[in-house]
Amino acid sequence: MIEKRNSERMKDEDVVNALSSETPEISDSDLESKPIPTIIDDLDIQDIPGIGPTTAKKLRDAGVLTVMDLAVTSSEELSVEINSSKESAAAFIIAAQQLLRDSNLLDKEFVTADVALEKRKSLLRCTTGSNALDKLLLGGIETQAITEFYGEFGSGKSQICHTLCVTASQPVENGGFGSGSIYIDTEGTFRPERVDQIAVSRGLDPTSVLKSIAVCKVYNSSHLELIIKDLGKYINDFKARLVIIDSIISLHRAEFAGRGTLADRQQRLNSMLHKIIRLAEIYNISVVITNQVQSSPDTFFGDPTKAAGGNVLGHASTYRIYLRKSGENRTAKMIDSPYHPYSDTKFTVTEKGVDDMEEETSSKRGKLKE
Ligand SMILES: Nc1ncnc2c1ncn2[C@@H]1O[C@H](COP(=O)(O)OP(=O)(O)OP(=O)(O)O)[C@@H](O)[C@H]1O
Ligand SMILES: [Mg+2]
Repeated sequence: MIEKRNSERMKDEDVVNALSSETPEISDSDLESKPIPTIIDDLDIQDIPGIGPTTAKKLRDAGVLTVMDLAVTSSEELSVEINSSKESAAAFIIAAQQLLRDSNLLDKEFVTADVALEKRKSLLRCTTGSNALDKLLLGGIETQAITEFYGEFGSGKSQICHTLCVTASQPVENGGFGSGSIYIDTEGTFRPERVDQIAVSRGLDPTSVLKSIAVCKVYNSSHLELIIKDLGKYINDFKARLVIIDSIISLHRAEFAGRGTLADRQQRLNSMLHKIIRLAEIYNISVVITNQVQSSPDTFFGDPTKAAGGNVLGHASTYRIYLRKSGENRTAKMIDSPYHPYSDTKFTVTEKGVDDMEEETSSKRGKLKE
């Protein structure tokens, strides 16, 4: 049984290797502004107190190559991979996180709220391409957070994702991250032509934008879980500050159909999402996920549609935005956030990708003239 699983895993790993060799590494010159400042590579797992050469070898054999890799794993996963108790796996992870704190790569365990506020002010935000949508998000999508867009087909989820990887490639002073991005496509809807069109319509060099996006087409739920497991490595390789997963649920939803498999599906989604949260925080990246809707027959008043994925997804997303199509335009509603007011806004989708509606743009032009 275990052997069978290992051989399946080997197959998945081969797919990942093939994919990563297809996608060339992004060089610094491909990006318009400076790469993400990091000393991640300078820290070796053997720098962690309590980890000697034998444990370091075990960790490396299990694919845990850096301190960051170790800091983002869960004790359940690690204990299986290095064949140790959950307690010692947890101790290694805590020691890795402590080393990152000591190296100022991770926040201290306790800080006063004023220091936390200052830190939040310095968080990077990336524009969505629409001023109205940025305003709803209080400045764009944030790092160290998971932003979820959900809505029915054609509501603009993938359009937001395409536009974000164009804007993220732009320098920080122009509202971007000045970084590469990773686009995990589970629905086969990523279109480089669309990225090209958005970049050209925005007066940007399409080649450098296209080179800044690492695309990974995912075929099944185990493949997605494997990609997420190794995401830290890809974030470093591609100098990505934005990771898009379009969509997070479609594969698990299709493969785990029926009530009998629901608990298993939710458990697998849960461990994947926990890993994503840790990656967002420790690598200081922004994660954008899209989600589908399902109808909720027990709703007597109001909109009977709700986000798929149940509580597991609801709890994992930091910000949750509901998209609806209204004619040519789209409505975005902030459904859940620890600090955004409950509000909504309108935007549209044009050849520039996500954009402000005509009235909004013309009223702003009017104001500028006054
Ligand atoms: N080049 C373009 N110019 C203008 N509008 C476009 C363009 N490309 C796509 N759109 C608009 O975007 C819509 C598709 O939106 P999108 O692909 O984001 O849907 P989605 O929410 O991801 O749906 P699904 O759940 O099926 O993935 C189209 O119906 C069209 O209105
Ligand atoms: Mg889509």
